[in-house]
Amino acid sequence: MLNFELYNPTRIIFGKDRLDSIDKHVPANARVLITYGGGSAVKSGLIAKIKTILGNRKVDEFGGIEPNPRYTTLMKAAEIVKKDKIDFILAVGGGSVIDGTKFICLAAHYEGDAEELLKTGFRRITSDVVKKVVPFGTVLTLPATGSEMNSGAVISHKHGKYPVMSDLTFPVFSILDPTLSFTLPKIQVANGIVDAFVHTTEQYITFQVGAKIQDRFAESILQTLIEIGETTVKEPENYVMRANHYWSATLALNGLIGAGVPQDWATHMIGHELTHLFGIDHAQTLAIILPALLEVRRKKKHAKLLQYAERVWDIKTGTEDEKITNAIRLTREFFERLGIKTRLSEYGVKSEQLENIVDHLKAHGLHALGETDDHNLETSRAILKKAF
Ligand code: NZQ
Ligand code: ZN
Repeated sequence: MLNFELYNPTRIIFGKDRLDSIDKHVPANARVLITYGGGSAVKSGLIAKIKTILGNRKVDEFGGIEPNPRYTTLMKAAEIVKKDKIDFILAVGGGSVIDGTKFICLAAHYEGDAEELLKTGFRRITSDVVKKVVPFGTVLTLPATGSEMNSGAVISHKHGKYPVMSDLTFPVFSILDPTLSFTLPKIQVANGIVDAFVHTTEQYITFQVGAKIQDRFAESILQTLIEIGETTVKEPENYVMRANHYWSATLALNGLIGAGVPQDWATHMIGHELTHLFGIDHAQTLAIILPALLEVRRKKKHAKLLQYAERVWDIKTGTEDEKITNAIRLTREFFERLGIKTRLSEYGVKSEQLENIVDHLKAHGLHALGETDDHNLETSRAILKKAF
């Protein structure tokens, strides 16, 4: 097991009818900004309910945070935070609203040009850089990203999607009421299963370091997602299924399974370029890239791929290579059964556009990816070719 340090201060408030606890966890004298997306939370009556719970506190609202939240939109909210002296933000929505809110919290009182915060990559932004960060809580309406219990964000601006990492942007609390996601379109539920699945494989299908407990955690998340995936898409109001979807997605990216193990975020990095260039939903880019990546990197990942085949998919027969081939096939078929297409051509991308994707990876400095930084542009090109 590798050395690690694990820090996670977010309070999780899980279950039905938990909205009232907002009153307890938002400071009584706070001036609050509620952030939300394109309107689903207004339509469902959720924003109105939350305003009632906030009682006499002064409350501002900022709606319109788009999927793959944009820097320019978020800076408008940051202005309001500064102007109205907001001292607590409540993010109501999915990963985009929560990620966007993290950025607003960092940018509002940043003394330099906030665009600089997008250029920090995977380096964590510290209190030397941003001296004052606005605290925030979340009400999660879409189980997928894990953003409700981690401190990372992904922000879109001009030429791409930029990771923003900081220990200063853990939510103070997150309300995880699975019933708030009953209104989701089926495709977003399927996206949520795939996103959580790929977060898990990226911290699991790398190489052996003797981290047995992390491996078992990861395998249990993957097996749970496989068990509940199709049902939670087909039966949106099946509480047991959706509750397991929620908690699996949170556990997949709250730091727990990634502590003390190698990680390979190449699927996400290539996926970000596909969202940026072609507007493909985040999780759908992952469903396109992961099976192709596992094929191209199967020698490198042999031992963990075999473990994945035997323990997650329960494949007991065949040679080692046959087991791995079957596990990759079953992964693709699982995504497709959820209603997610797994080929670039099915999203209208043409093979002539492949070099443009590679050029973008190059422009963003993404030429040393993978668990040991040996995944270069040639590797990405091979993966993209296989993904058609
Ligand atoms: O905007 P509204 O009207 O609310 O509609 C949203 C949006 O159109 C809708 N939706 C959300 N909850 C709903 C609902 N519709 C009906 N009923 C509800 N209860 O769903 C649509 C998609 O929402 P979005 O927040 O974009 O989806 P998701 O949660 O998948 O977030 C994706 C974003 O998260 C980033 C991605 O890059 C992407 O920008 N990620 C963040 C991570 C993190 N912070 O750790 C990790 C992930 O890998 C991911 O990269
Ligand atoms: Zn993701």
